[in-house]
Amino acid sequence: MEKAAFAIPDLRAFLSALDAAGELTCITEPVAPHFEIAREISRRDGQPVLFENLPGYPGWRIASGYVAQREHYARALGCAPGDLVRRMAEAIAHPQPPAEVEAAPCQEVVETEVDLDRVPIPRYHPLDGGPYITAGITVIHDPDYGRNVSFHRLMRIGRDRFVARIVEQRGTDTAWRKSPAGLPMAVCIGVPPHVLLAAAMSPEKGVDELAVAQALAPTPTVRAKTAPLRIPAGVELVLEGVLTHEFTTEGPFPDLTGTMDGTREQPIFRVTAITHRREPIFHALLPAGLEHKQLMGMPREPTIFAAVNEVAACTGVRITPGGCSWLHAVVQIEKRGPEDGRQAIEAAFRGHPSLKHVVIVETDVDIDDPAAVEWAIATRFQADRGLHVFPDQPSSSLDPSARQAPGAKARTAKMGLDATISWGAEREGYRRMGYE
Ligand SMILES: Cc1cc2nc3c(=O)[nH]c(=O)nc-3n(C[C@H](O)[C@H](O)[C@H](O)COP(=O)(O)O)c2cc1C
Repeated sequence: MEKAAFAIPDLRAFLSALDAAGELTCITEPVAPHFEIAREISRRDGQPVLFENLPGYPGWRIASGYVAQREHYARALGCAPGDLVRRMAEAIAHPQPPAEVEAAPCQEVVETEVDLDRVPIPRYHPLDGGPYITAGITVIHDPDYGRNVSFHRLMRIGRDRFVARIVEQRGTDTAWRKSPAGLPMAVCIGVPPHVLLAAAMSPEKGVDELAVAQALAPTPTVRAKTAPLRIPAGVELVLEGVLTHEFTTEGPFPDLTGTMDGTREQPIFRVTAITHRREPIFHALLPAGLEHKQLMGMPREPTIFAAVNEVAACTGVRITPGGCSWLHAVVQIEKRGPEDGRQAIEAAFRGHPSLKHVVIVETDVDIDDPAAVEWAIATRFQADRGLHVFPDQPSSSLDPSARQAPGAKARTAKMGLDATISWGAEREGYRRMGYE
């Protein structure tokens, strides 16, 4: 893997570090971007891999799995995995304005004759509605709230256009509804881990995710070539264009839960320019794979952490893989009062509105160990005291068991388990003995 030329923390620098640590698998045999690459990634789910030989796409490479584990983010941020939640919470609380540069690697090649046939956009599964971009971060500018960066899956439908999955009431959706002539949009692919992390967070409206990224690691921006936007300079590929008010059918496509999401009429994204580095690296994120789960779930932990710390002493949060890395969480607190458990439950649902079930444990329970969490439920939880059910709540559209109504927010019943030791109880009787 070649040494990174620019001092900008970019994907190449990160892949070099993984390679130096013996954690990157480089594949030189020819692998087709359609279907075959998904099989190869799925076989190595969670492992960083670089495909260096893509038939029909000379000079292109595809990376996958480089942000599939907490350790990958810890390496990118230069901290221990156990410190990630705190680092993310600090970055959201204290965003920093990114530096602005005039030239950037992501604009070494500029194409205004748009031909997406030249980009290796994978088709992952025969049931998919088409080839998809799954790890592109979307940069837009809201007339009232400023820059917003998030993810939208993009189904390719032509040489210069995609249909985008735009979940209602989030940043891109609200800005697009205020832009009758279309919303200028830039999609960046081949993005360093700290910028992916920030783009997947949902800070308050008006907080610029690139400023959150800058608080995690240097994130200089450069002016896009054809869209009135500044974009992260250290990315591999940029698709500049407009999110129009023309519609077509998007999907089907797998969702985070691993179930196939149905089709919807969604807006068309028309591309006006493509810019990229020489020998660009495309990022293929396997739908419902570990990388998808980690990138969806982990960025929600800091907002839960901050919300619980307003009502109790929160020491840790984990969005758990068993809950599709979206619907379940374990929250660890230092218990200091009889109501701490219930208040932490209610705060966790405020910190992540899509959360469905949450378990509260104390600091002697390892929140990275599902068996330890279950042990706390078995030995410290009583349903007639610690079970809190909240019927008829707004739900994630990802939960097939929720009550779904077209055009309306789904509805669900939420549940919290307070698995902390009952207040005033003799705590010695609850301590787990050990032989060390
Ligand atoms: C890998 C990944 C894929 C995502 N795909 C979509 C999508 O297709 N459409 C969507 O609206 N949100 C999608 N999201 C969620 C949003 O991008 C995410 O919630 C974001 O934080 C919303 O930010 P905002 O509240 O600032 O708009 C995805 C998130 C990740 C991590």
